[in-house]
Formats: sequence, structure tokens, C-alpha cells
Amino acid sequence: MTLTELKIGHLTAKIPVIQGGMGIGISLNRLAGTVAAEGGIGILSTAQIGYTEEGFQRASVRTNLKAIKTQLDKARSFAKGGILGFNVMVASFRYEDVVKATVEAGADVIISGAGLPMNLPELVGNAKTKIAPIVSSVKAAKIILRNWAKKYNRTADFVVIEGPKAGGHLGFKANEIDAAILGMDDEIVKIIAHVKTYEEQFDTKIPVIFAGGVWDRADIEYYLNLGCSGVQMATRFIGTEECDAPDDFKARFLNATKDDIHLTTSPVGLPGRAIDNKFTETITKGVDAYKAQPAPKTPIIPIARCLNCLQHKLCDRKTIPYCISEALLNSVEHNTDMGLIFSGTNGYRINEITTVKAIFDELRA
Ligand SMILES: Cc1cc2nc3c(=O)[nH]c(=O)nc-3n(C[C@H](O)[C@H](O)[C@H](O)COP(=O)(O)O)c2cc1C
Repeated sequence: MTLTELKIGHLTAKIPVIQGGMGIGISLNRLAGTVAAEGGIGILSTAQIGYTEEGFQRASVRTNLKAIKTQLDKARSFAKGGILGFNVMVASFRYEDVVKATVEAGADVIISGAGLPMNLPELVGNAKTKIAPIVSSVKAAKIILRNWAKKYNRTADFVVIEGPKAGGHLGFKANEIDAAILGMDDEIVKIIAHVKTYEEQFDTKIPVIFAGGVWDRADIEYYLNLGCSGVQMATRFIGTEECDAPDDFKARFLNATKDDIHLTTSPVGLPGRAIDNKFTETITKGVDAYKAQPAPKTPIIPIARCLNCLQHKLCDRKTIPYCISEALLNSVEHNTDMGLIFSGTNGYRINEITTVKAIFDELRA
């Protein structure tokens, strides 16, 4: 089977691979720009995107909004005209402003999950930026597409399905994961069939992309054969020179075995998949006692101060076991012991640090 191009409206990616957005600081300009140059779609994560910029500690929100354009411009400078965009979490603090900043910066695409992006069409308006919701079930696909059609008379430009083998926060409850792994292929087929009804209604193509545990060419072909138009891969790109994370973060993947990757509790209220370390051990040990406390609770890991990553209505300091920004920042600021190191189920398969080009050469072969 030859890999066909991925067409999203006026955009064409030579290789039907989207590099999944990874926050904080894992997919920034270097990784995304290189993926775009290789013919895939490069995605920068907006989560605390300005964390290395001066002023971040003083004014995180303003610094992040500014860094959106700086990072995209840098990525464009070596993307050879390739496709670039952002992953914006719906749960983000000032989600609306973040989305608008990505559009103003000139994003080709926005992929938005960790909640359903109900008002995304309105935020993007008439801009050329193509938009995709992330869904994990046909139920979620039905809600978001119905809502967009009814409220905005428009549909998604593409849809990303994120399955239960993905890294980061998952769209499944912890006790649903095993069943979701078994039932995912059926769910994908149902989502594709549902999306088709909107293709007919709006007389357009809506590519469906699958994410979660995709590793090699055989995996890509598998999902194309199921009816997907492409895949989104994230964890695999951590094992590259161009991945924006520091070497000690990448080393955690080189040293991990299959038994070192588990689900962990997150303040976001969704389970997250991560590599075991002192941090996850501390959380696992403390979580039952933490849950048993009445509010206001004492967090398992003391919280220094709020860095405004999530909407405050979703992240109440009185009821969170730790600060997600602090944990993710630790993992990229040389405190990988006490950092949250998100990984897909395949994270242990990173055995060397290679290049984005080498991965694309292999996928193209
Ligand atoms: C380190 C890491 C950070 C991630 N951060 C985000 C994020 O900020 N927002 C998001 O929607 N998904 C995030 N994800 C999920 C990825 O974008 C992707 O959909 C998923 O990991 C795909 O599965 P794979 O890693 O097995 O390829 C993250 C994943 C990893 C491994």
C-alpha cells in the first residue's frame, strides 16, 4: 500500500502523519518545524508555551500569548513551506485568547481537546485556519458535530480520534481503559460513519485521523485500512534530536521498560499515562488519603503558586492533589524525578535518539 497524501481543505501533507502536540515544552518550534519540513503536519503545544521566555514567572499568561507567534515564526523559518499548527486544550486558562492568538499568528491548523471545543468555530471566524476537535468516542463526535452544525452552520475540517493507548490525558475513565482498548476499532469505524453524514450534509471531505499507540508503517496502514485518512503520532517523536525536550527527559524513555508505564491521577480530572518515577510513586501512595480528606484539602505535593494553566473553574486549588504545571515543568527543567513524564503505551520502544528525517524515511519506505 502506498501512503496517500492527507488533504485538509486547501492544505496537503505529503505524508498522512500529524505529530501530536505535547506540552509542556515537548513539541515546540524545533520538532514541529522539522516534521512539517518532512511532509507531515507539525503541531506545537500551547501549554505554557512561553516557559523559557523572560517574564514567564512574572506574567505567565501574557508571556505565553506572545510566545505563540515567536514559536510559530521560528518553526516556519525551517519548515520549508510545510503545514504547522497548534494543540490547544479546551481546559486552558483563557482558552479563547489562546485560540485567537494562534489564528493571528497564522496557524494552518488547530487541534483542540481535553474537553469539547464547543465555540472553536466562532473563535476562528473566517480565518483560513483549519480546525479539528479531539474525540475519543462516537458519543463525543456526535455532540460536537451536531453543536457546530446547529450553532455555526459549519463542520469540522478534520477530526482527531484519540484512543486509549495515547500519552498525556486520556478521554476515558481509568476503569474503562481495558474495554476501550478492545473496542477501539469498532468505535473508529462508527465515528468514521458518523463523520460521513456531515461530509454529505456539508458537501466536503472531513479526514479522520487516529491517535494513540501508532508507531510504524504497519500501524499507519492498519488505520488507513480501517478508513482513517491519517494518523497522529506523538510519543515516537520524543526519541528524536529535534524534540524540544531536554536530554534528561528523553533519557527517561531510553531507560523505561514496558512495566514502567502506567496511568496516574491528574488535577485535570482525567487519567494521564506517564512513566513511573518518584513523582508518580508519591502520588500513588498519597492519593487514597488525599481523597478521604474533606475540602479544603492539603495537596499531596505542596503547591508553590498558580501559573494559570487551566481555567480556575476546572482547577480549584482547594481540591487538587498537585499542580499539573509544576509537575510538567519539573520534567523539562531537570527535575525528572519529581516531574510528570507523559508517555503513550509505546514509550518503552524508544531505544535510541534518532532524527525526525530517519523516522519519516522509515515511514515512507
Ligand atoms: C509528553 C506528552 C505530552 C502531551 N501533551 C498533550 C497536550 O498538551 N495536549 C493534548 O491534547 N495532547 C497531548 N498529548 C497527547 C498527544 O498529542 C497524542 O495525541 C497522543 O500521545 C498520541 O499517542 P502516542 O503518543 O501513542 O503516539 C501528549 C502526549 C505526550 C506523550
